[in-house]
Amino acid sequence: MKTLCPSILSADFGRLAEEIKIAEKAGADIIHCDIMDGHFVPNITFGPDVVAKVNEITNLPLDVHLMINSPEKYVKSFRDAGADYISVHIENNYHINRLVNQIKDLGAKAGIAINPATPVKTLEYVLEYADFILVMSVNPGFGGQKFVTNSLNKVRELKKIITANDYKCLIEIDGGIGPANIKEVSDAGVDMFVAGASVFKAKDMAGAVKEMKKLIA
Ligand code: DX5
Ligand code: ZN
Repeated sequence: MKTLCPSILSADFGRLAEEIKIAEKAGADIIHCDIMDGHFVPNITFGPDVVAKVNEITNLPLDVHLMINSPEKYVKSFRDAGADYISVHIENNYHINRLVNQIKDLGAKAGIAINPATPVKTLEYVLEYADFILVMSVNPGFGGQKFVTNSLNKVRELKKIITANDYKCLIEIDGGIGPANIKEVSDAGVDMFVAGASVFKAKDMAGAVKEMKKLIA
């Protein structure tokens, strides 16, 4: 099943519970939480305490995207806060194989995120151990940015390798996804779709979720 994962980065944090409920009721599958430290990316968001609150608000699984340095120090805190999926970037982690195992040992699904300029080839010797690959289709740090178009080729390349080797790894895409491009991205082989602004900045949030769910069905 293909899943829609609204990213609360673009939510109104004063009405967070209300907005998450709207997305959940409309058919969202997973809630995506973006963790930024002001070092790996030029923005700061929130930590495990907020994730724990989100976990109280919703029954949906939580997908925690760590855009932070030294994630090995924090993965347990996020797992304890309720993260079901945890992704870490390959660009700032020398020991990605160890980190993937660490996340799996905590009982969460382990994802590896790659920035727009990072080639698929980097994943060659870790792909078989990952539960999912998060293909960044914008430069991480902010919501509401424009989709980097060659991410589509990257997804196709990755999908080919996964299929050829019969790996179980899913493909997630994150950045600039909305009703206008979600179908094309889905056809390229994506399984999990992060959508921030296109859900939480939409005039009709429930309508946006329903429309995108229909397009990936
Ligand atoms: C960007 C984050 C994304 C962000 C996507 O660094 O990783 O999850 O919320 O936002 P949109 O869908 O608005 O591009
Ligand atoms: Zn994200």
